[in-house]
Amino acid sequence: MPHDRLGYMPDELSGTLKVRLVPLGEEHLPEVATMVADADVVRFTRFPEPLPPGFVARWYARYRDGRVDGTCAAFAIVDATGAFLGLALAPHVDGEAREAELGYMLAPAARGRGIATEALRQLSDWAFGTLGARRLQLLISVDNRASSRVAQRAGFLHEGVLRSLHVKQGLRSDTEVWSLLPSDARREWPRVMTHPRT
Ligand SMILES: CC(C)(COP(=O)(O)OP(=O)(O)OC[C@H]1O[C@@H](n2cnc3c(N)ncnc32)[C@H](O)[C@@H]1OP(=O)(O)O)[C@@H](O)C(=O)NCCC(=O)NCCS
Repeated sequence: MPHDRLGYMPDELSGTLKVRLVPLGEEHLPEVATMVADADVVRFTRFPEPLPPGFVARWYARYRDGRVDGTCAAFAIVDATGAFLGLALAPHVDGEAREAELGYMLAPAARGRGIATEALRQLSDWAFGTLGARRLQLLISVDNRASSRVAQRAGFLHEGVLRSLHVKQGLRSDTEVWSLLPSDARREWPRVMTHPRT
């Protein structure tokens, strides 16, 4: 199957839950525009507030170009019927360092079912397998407990807190750093543990 620089091969990305990652396309943008207006997305992601006119189209163009030059990647999280559930992102890919920052967000109706954890697992598999990444990183607000649980359940290790990190215009936030290495990739942490330990 032909693929671009970041090796999009969506057929490889199906997991055990009935959710899949597919390359983000223009057909997903109306639902992206709705989702990024959600209060938790505004609070916990780098989408600007308020969203300037035309922002989603420009944001999409950055990911479309990044897919070609290998600097970033965006997937839609979809269900078995192809319905849009959310986004799984690699906002920064450093091919030389073989490192990537990952991120995720769900439409409100898709939350609370472990979908983000499954999507992050699939995204991590893609980053290790297709990108050949040696280190994956998540940046999560200390106030975003749901996202920290997603990171933990997907096997990421909590490394520490970056204090007062600049998140976006008008927002600084104490921010957790979580990482996953290829050698950690298949580990799962017991649900009772607050922090993963080795
Ligand atoms: C963060 C987000 C992706 C979580 O996805 P999800 O699939 O709904 O996650 P779940 O509902 O399965 O919750 C994961 C865990 O967090 C817990 N959780 C959910 N909401 C919580 C809250 N408000 N406070 C504390 N824990 C919470 C769940 O109980 C679950 O814990 P468990 O593993 O012990 O059962 C989703 O809430 C979202 O899109 N938020 C807005 C955007 C965002 O914050 N993106 C991440 C930026 S770093």
